[in-house]
Amino acid sequence: MRRPKIARTVKALRAAIAAWRNKGARIALVPTMGALHDGHVSLVRLARRHATRVVVSIFVNPAQFAPHEDFARYPRSWKADLAALAKEKVDLVFAPAVEEIYPTGFATKVIPAGPALGLETDFRPHFFAGVATVVAKLLIEAMPDLAYFGEKDYQQLLVIRRLARDLDLPVKIVGAPIVREKDGLALSSRNFYLTPAERTAAPTLHRTLKQCAAAIKSGEPIDAILARGRREIEAAGFKLDYLAARHAETLAPVASVKDGPVRLLVAAKIGATRLIDNLGI
Ligand code: PAJ
Repeated sequence: MRRPKIARTVKALRAAIAAWRNKGARIALVPTMGALHDGHVSLVRLARRHATRVVVSIFVNPAQFAPHEDFARYPRSWKADLAALAKEKVDLVFAPAVEEIYPTGFATKVIPAGPALGLETDFRPHFFAGVATVVAKLLIEAMPDLAYFGEKDYQQLLVIRRLARDLDLPVKIVGAPIVREKDGLALSSRNFYLTPAERTAAPTLHRTLKQCAAAIKSGEPIDAILARGRREIEAAGFKLDYLAARHAETLAPVASVKDGPVRLLVAAKIGATRLIDNLGI
């Protein structure tokens, strides 16, 4: 198995990509924070199908964690990540140090509005500025033809689409479906935190989304459905941040399926772990 090249600096990343570009390669970027699982691997496989060179970035981005959040204990599994990426024939892993991305004196932020407003932002106000800043940097550094993001982080995907359009970044943003465990739990690096009891309760999120989606399709009023869904999630031991029905493209609130394509989104804490999930209707 051929180990991917590893670039630790923007300069090394750009040199490798420029060499491929000169030979006419079509370049894909898959940004991650490592602790890779089959959800990440699905993005890499999709990228592999549409690009001649696949670059994966691994960078636990301090700017998207608030001081009280899990930056320090966020799972890091460099060796296993590299082995998984070698197996997928990834060409290059970009794994910069924090100082490479945020050198002393760093003073510029990308602050998204539009789809970034509400939902996650109500509970993690720092989050999307951190994500948008690092993703803008990664896209400018790699200048890929294609960049892959999971629907698992649905609001993030919309924020990044908007960012690429608004900053005229010449990249196609591709969204990929959510990979789940057999019991419905969406794969997430944060699932590693769950105790066995929490792991047993965790599929409630997806199950509730499915029940809400079915009820909405059958024409019941959305508000009543969501109220019931919230009670079910809380009864399973979660502390709910939100369960919402939104327009799938703008995230504007919707009162019925007549208001456009609907996406259900949920965020809730079980014990110390915050999980998010979503489902299209
Ligand atoms: P991370 O949580 O590592 O996720 C990297 C990518 O994998 C994201 O696009 C995410 O949506 C996708 N992903 C995670 N779990 C998935 C699943 N179960 N199915 C499909 N895709 C899944 O999201 C981030 O990192 C960061 O915010 C980042 C974009 C890298 C910026 O720092």
